Amino acid sequence: MIGRLNHVAIAVPDLQAAAAQYETTLGAKVGLPQDEPDHGVTVVFIELPNTKIELLFPLGEGSPIETFLDKNPSGGIHHICYEVDDILAARAQLQSQGARVLGSGEPKIGAHGKPVLFLHPKDFTGCLIELEQV
Ligand code: CO
Repeated sequence: MIGRLNHVAIAVPDLQAAAAQYETTLGAKVGLPQDEPDHGVTVVFIELPNTKIELLFPLGEGSPIETFLDKNPSGGIHHICYEVDDILAARAQLQSQGARVLGSGEPKIGAHGKPVLFLHPKDFTGCLIELEQV
């Protein structure tokens, strides 16, 4: 069911410093910060030849990244995103297997303008999984 790895998201305590490190130290192609109020994050996209990295920083009150950074003050991998062809079919299959979808359970429009869902990390060996319909 799952396809390509779309991105790995890293929560960071200092977005400018992390973006500069990827650009200067690692020599990656780094985009400009984008606010995503629906998801409570500011994101910087990093384009790699085979996937993307997303640097996440809290935006607004009660950002989901805030509690993560409280537990991981120097930052850390927050989630990984797999591509699916049909997000509703994927959801139906996952739920039939007992996997839990976070939030309302309805797809939201994600950072790339495509429908996304998040799956409970406790159902997937401690890893928060995002599914994105491509
Ligand atoms: Co993501």
